[in-house]
Amino acid sequence: MKDLSNYRKSYEKSELLENSISENPIGLFSKWFQEAEDIGGSEEINAMTISTIGLDGFPKNRVVLLKQFTSEGFVFFTNYKSEKGKAIAENPNVCLSFFWHNSERQVIIKGIAEKTSEQISNDYFYSRPIGSQLGAIASHQSEVISGREVLENKIASLEKEFEGQEIIRPEYWGGYIVKPSEIEFWQGRQNRLHDRIRYQLHEGIWKIERLSS
Ligand SMILES: Cc1cc2nc3c(=O)[nH]c(=O)nc-3n(C[C@H](O)[C@H](O)[C@H](O)COP(=O)(O)O)c2cc1C
Repeated sequence: MKDLSNYRKSYEKSELLENSISENPIGLFSKWFQEAEDIGGSEEINAMTISTIGLDGFPKNRVVLLKQFTSEGFVFFTNYKSEKGKAIAENPNVCLSFFWHNSERQVIIKGIAEKTSEQISNDYFYSRPIGSQLGAIASHQSEVISGREVLENKIASLEKEFEGQEIIRPEYWGGYIVKPSEIEFWQGRQNRLHDRIRYQLHEGIWKIERLSS
């Protein structure tokens, strides 16, 4: 047995009090994101877990990269025919979460995922290096393949096919925007008395409540 019962950390870096928060959670998210960036020491602070309810009835989490956020929501890019894409098509309710260990903070977002506009998908697709564009075309994400060489051979043949030609974004690859209905901010504190502030959207107004740790 590997006993982890001594793994313990006292969270002491900050606090989250009602008098320091904005009426809109995107304002607070933006502040926390900036602070996680400024503090440094955490790589890929835009890495977030997205959980979906799969066609098999099970929740599934995986990491994707947040590429934009606005007052509308949180945008990531993926293959629409992947396992998550199929799950979202059936049930668009998703949950995102971030853990920023450098600021001892967690953010959990419940919301509805919708495909972004073609414009947003195109803008991002064409901003990526050619290798990533071809990778997006080559990979039928989440399908079973017989070996790594399937992907490598596909890339090699696409490189030939598209040599000197414009690459077109495949219709099965693009963005989702997660429009939030609930956002919880968790700030680690001493003695497990963590701060938890939850925003819930009711008829266009964000209700703010503190949750027990
Ligand atoms: C740090 C990190 C970043 C990732 N970013 C993305 C991403 O932005 N889009 C994506 O489709 N997959 C990304 N992945 C891969 C996903 O975690 C996952 O393997 C893939 O999307 C297939 O998931 P699915 O089969 O559940 O649909 C990332 C993985 C890691 C560890």
